[in-house]
Amino acid sequence: MALSTRTVSCLQLLLLLPVITWMQSHGVGAIRAVTRPINTTGVVGQDAEFSCSVADKSANEVLTWRLQWDDTASPQSVHLSAEHNATMLEFDESAKHATYTTRYSVNGPIHTTVLHIANIQPSDAGSVACMYQITVSGSVIYYTIPEYTPVRLTVWIPPTPTCSFTNLDPNATAYGSPTIGATVELTCADTVGVPTPELTWRADERNPNTVNRSVYYHELQAEDNGRWFECQAISPASQTPVICSVRPMAVPPTAKVTPDVLNIIEGGNIEFTCTGSGLPEISSYQWFLDGSPTHAVNSQIYPSIKVTNTATGSVLTLEKISKLGQTVVSCEVMLSAGLTGRASGLVVISKQQVTVTPAARQQAHSEQQLGTAPSVFAIPLAFLFLLLILMVALLVWHRQLRHDSDTQKLSSDTTVNGVAPKQAKRSWKVYRVTTV
Ligand SMILES: *[C@@H]1O[C@H](CO)[C@@H](O)[C@H](O)[C@H]1NC(C)=O
Ligand SMILES: *[C@@H]1O[C@H](CO)[C@@H](O)[C@H](O)[C@H]1NC(C)=O
Ligand SMILES: *[C@@H]1O[C@H](CO)[C@@H](O)[C@H](O)[C@H]1NC(C)=O
Ligand SMILES: *[C@@H]1O[C@H](CO)[C@@H](O)[C@H](O)[C@H]1NC(C)=O
Repeated sequence: MALSTRTVSCLQLLLLLPVITWMQSHGVGAIRAVTRPINTTGVVGQDAEFSCSVADKSANEVLTWRLQWDDTASPQSVHLSAEHNATMLEFDESAKHATYTTRYSVNGPIHTTVLHIANIQPSDAGSVACMYQITVSGSVIYYTIPEYTPVRLTVWIPPTPTCSFTNLDPNATAYGSPTIGATVELTCADTVGVPTPELTWRADERNPNTVNRSVYYHELQAEDNGRWFECQAISPASQTPVICSVRPMAVPPTAKVTPDVLNIIEGGNIEFTCTGSGLPEISSYQWFLDGSPTHAVNSQIYPSIKVTNTATGSVLTLEKISKLGQTVVSCEVMLSAGLTGRASGLVVISKQQVTVTPAARQQAHSEQQLGTAPSVFAIPLAFLFLLLILMVALLVWHRQLRHDSDTQKLSSDTTVNGVAPKQAKRSWKVYRVTTV
């Protein structure tokens, strides 16, 4: 369809050629340049504007813009006149730029036209020419204004630098974080910025890499643990430098809480010690009770919390905890670079006295298990025991009975022999027995 329209236009042009020649020779279309459009640079996302002013323009001459983009597969040009609403623009080749219609608008009084491009995209880059058009018998004929050579829309793209590092230590493992003594190569790169930005590591002002400022070599020290190395990209497309950063060494600190488990009776002393270790050094300690930082716990449950930080660690002292059972006591150690490590201990508060160490606790547990056996058999055993006593008592009584009958006979003999006290007792017993 486009082809047929074009064929018709060509035919019309051929027929109109003598008319046009006549018009030009008689001074029609002798538009005079006043203000030419100028080469313009726009940043992606921002707006750009071209302005074109003329004088001595007749009523049938209409200012128009011809756009030619750099990145279309085949040369593609579009004419935009002030009489067209840019949002209704039609394109011969619907391809790439058809969607741009809402971003291109043309406005202005008769002798001036302004082309406005909103929200510039990289594909808007191309040439822009201020022309005029004449409509003869329904055909539109475009003319260039000799002084107005096409100008360019240059599109700038702000940089998006990426920072990375390579561990140059020959013994480096693929995934391990490099540590003290390893030399790292820090690389700063940008593939999107237009124009090409200037990339510079902000690493060490005293020791910059003068050969290539986008590459920096650094031997890691203890102080570099957790440190972010920054690279800045400076580009005219961005008012402020765009920064990227990388952290080659990130070894978190470790923490240890003693004791592991603290079993106490209500009201007992609670003291935990936390020791941390990290590069270059531990900068702060934070205690947690059941996951809440000590400053945020319920003061009715934990009325007295004392933290004493020493050169080697931190000591937490708790008093008068009004809660029985378990409380998880955790300690978080932090490096000045923000890396953290955690460890936990457990305090178990009970009403009864229990032993302190986990080993002793286990022993106490087994003792208790043994203790449960007698309680089950206590009643039958007691019954048997009583039965036994009864039987023994009966046996003793029976034997006593026999013995007493013997002693009764003997009694008279001994009285004769004059062994008084024993005999007296026996005689009492005899008396008793006899009375039964
Ligand atoms: C506009 O830019 C083009 C190419 O970038 C250049 O050839 C031309 O001379 C410039 N025109 C003006 C008026 O600066
Ligand atoms: C052009 O289109 C815009 C938005 O669709 C509309 O607001 C405006 O009135 C139109 N202008 C003309 C001259 O048709
Ligand atoms: C790498 O490892 C080897 C063997 O474990 C050791 O002899 C050598 O010193 C290491 N090199 C470095 C730079 O650490
Ligand atoms: C700097 O190094 C980077 C990465 O190796 C490279 O892409 C870039 O071309 C170098 N720049 C210069 C000026 O040598």
